[in-house]
Amino acid sequence: MSQIRKVRGFQDIFGEDAEKYRYVVDTARDVFQKYNFSEIILPFVEDVSLFVRSVGEQTDIVQKEMYVFEDRGGRKIALRPEGTASAVRAYIEEKMFAKGGYQKLFYEGAMFRYERPQAGRYRQFHQIGAEIFGVDTPLADAELIKMVSEILNRLNIEVRLEINTLGKFEDRKKYIDALKKYLKDFEKDLCEDCKKRIEKNPLRVLDCKVDNCRKITDKAPVLIEYLSEESLERFEKLKKYLDNLGIRYNFNPKLVRGLDYYTDTVFEFITDKIGAQGTVAAGGRYDELVKQLGGPDTPALGFAAGIERLMLLVEKTPSKEPLVVVLPIVSEYNIEALRVAEKLRSSGVKTELLLKEGSLKSKMKLANKIDAKFVVFISENPELKFMETGEQEVFSCIDDLIEVLVEKTKV
Ligand code: HAM
Repeated sequence: MSQIRKVRGFQDIFGEDAEKYRYVVDTARDVFQKYNFSEIILPFVEDVSLFVRSVGEQTDIVQKEMYVFEDRGGRKIALRPEGTASAVRAYIEEKMFAKGGYQKLFYEGAMFRYERPQAGRYRQFHQIGAEIFGVDTPLADAELIKMVSEILNRLNIEVRLEINTLGKFEDRKKYIDALKKYLKDFEKDLCEDCKKRIEKNPLRVLDCKVDNCRKITDKAPVLIEYLSEESLERFEKLKKYLDNLGIRYNFNPKLVRGLDYYTDTVFEFITDKIGAQGTVAAGGRYDELVKQLGGPDTPALGFAAGIERLMLLVEKTPSKEPLVVVLPIVSEYNIEALRVAEKLRSSGVKTELLLKEGSLKSKMKLANKIDAKFVVFISENPELKFMETGEQEVFSCIDDLIEVLVEKTKV
């Protein structure tokens, strides 16, 4: 029979990778908790219009990348391509603004985008993310950026930070008009994608990687010249706060992000170590979005990081707990072995009970394969084998053996 394979762009994460996944998530969770964020577990599917109205109708995500389908009740729903829209929907729907509007949420989980798969880019990927509602000051932007750096530092991941300000929607509109006008003069020299972007999403031309497009946009009008005093002042303050916190950054006037909801601050943490998909974490402010989705006027900001990309950068997971294998010499000792394994586990020792049929030799081979550090042979007199040195020690009482193991397996 033909073998069924996983769907393109989807991955099995197992073994050491699954450990890395947990390590990344646990590290982030710990930081989120220290910053007093509370968790929200969001649904995997939402009404399509949520993403159309937030991420933006003309964005690549909505135009080309969403998994959209009709459920059996005829509802048009989408697998979530990101978490912010859902967090905002929940903030409004669950009336989380009741406490004066202030709310800090974090989430973790799978996101879906029908992109061309390559290293660091998948159709199902996972994010950790956080959103802050109800704070206007740029100090919150600085604190959020500090929190992301803290996660990356703890994971020992080196990145550079790029920041920009996109101003308010109205200023941006004026800029987009000017940019369109400029780009039209160079239309024939732009790549095919960018030709289409001039009308649909001209800001995206700014982060096109094609050399010629880059040369053209190097001389394009710059957004910052179209922004209000207020936005510029806010940006200056943010830079000052980052300086105070000792966070280094580059101002990148071409940083525009691929989602429409941003206002003022945007940022990306980027690495050159994993090829073209180098943005590991990104976010910004979205002061208009809560109102736009039918909630009260609430400033907000947040970020998300791609777990798979972080996993590519995590050198190794912290030292593992040593494994003890409990091995009954003959099946008459199975019940005693079960009892010993339970005792070891309840004393905090990671234990594998090896009940597989076969010769002692084949069982020892397996113990080696699963990386056992100690083997306990259960027979008349229990025996402990130290796998690294090959030494063996016989005990007259199992409790003495357990005591030794508890001591030796402490990490
Ligand atoms: P985003 O830039 O679309 O922002 O995604 C955030 C991160 O998710 C990226 O920097 C990248 O690490 C990861 N990522 C995105 N697409 C893929 C993919 N196809 N495969 C693997 N990793 C991927 C957002 O999603 C916003 N919701 C962030 C945000 C939160 N802004 C404000 N609050």
